[in-house]
Amino acid sequence: MKEIECCVVSCEKPLDAAYWEAQYKAKTTGWDLGKVSPPIQTYVDTISNKNSSILIPGCGNSYEAEYLLERGFTNITVIDIAPTPVTDLKEKFKNNPNIQIILGDFFEHQGKYDLIIEQTFFCALPPTMRQKYVWKMHQLLADEGKLAGLLFNRTFEVSPPFGGSKEEYETLFEAAFGFLQMDSCLNSIAPRANSELFFELKKNNEVKVNRYEFSGITCSGCMKSVTEKFAAIVGILNASMSSDFAEVLIVSQNDIGVEDLQNAISYDEKYQIKKIS
Ligand SMILES: C[S@@+](CC[C@H](N)C(=O)[O-])C[C@H]1O[C@@H](n2cnc3c(N)ncnc32)[C@H](O)[C@@H]1O
Repeated sequence: MKEIECCVVSCEKPLDAAYWEAQYKAKTTGWDLGKVSPPIQTYVDTISNKNSSILIPGCGNSYEAEYLLERGFTNITVIDIAPTPVTDLKEKFKNNPNIQIILGDFFEHQGKYDLIIEQTFFCALPPTMRQKYVWKMHQLLADEGKLAGLLFNRTFEVSPPFGGSKEEYETLFEAAFGFLQMDSCLNSIAPRANSELFFELKKNNEVKVNRYEFSGITCSGCMKSVTEKFAAIVGILNASMSSDFAEVLIVSQNDIGVEDLQNAISYDEKYQIKKIS
């Protein structure tokens, strides 16, 4: 698979702007399809409201945005942390008022969108950021907003891309989003055949989604015990911990006091939890 070879790098390297910019400069961009991703094209064709506000994070060369523009969409925002694709897109669409092109970090971005399109952005992030991704997506979506696109349903020996499974994603997005679809993708490009899921999630407006710093855990067994303790608190609908044990995502019916969380894990004084505002 071409994209497996595209980023021969240890995942211990920071996947920051410098890393991504270096890939664009060196043209080691094996993820770049050179055309709109067929499953996203099919999905876009089902959207009737051409004025929907649409965000594409980690947009790269964003053939998806180009397709949206061709189809008459009028309110598109794309963001990428690497200067090269952003400069190229600004030149390509310089006279087009229907697209806003931003150089910046998705996690710092503010706004409200009806739809956010996922196309090889999630898999480009270190897996430790998955809880933060869910939190940020929930924050950026308008009421009734949707997150839709593609996720890998496989693992990789060399990353990025970072893979995952349907089961993992269901656990991750549980309660913060309603699942409209998450199925094997039938029209992936040939090198990704049978390895992608097409998903469409609807923001759950009824819940609070909060992140917390966590310390004191060094193994996944303890992680399981701790998240189970949190999940047992009345009002908590989902609790998950990042793979480096440093962050907890809590989805709840109402605001949960940090002291309630701390009490639930008071059986081990090493465990400390602190809200991230
Ligand atoms: C694997 S590439 C995918 C690009 C594009 N979506 C595509 O399919 O061709 C991942 C992209 O995410 C961008 N990226 C990584 N971290 C980011 C962040 N925190 N904020 C915005 N963009 C980011 C990278 O610069 C890169 O362009």
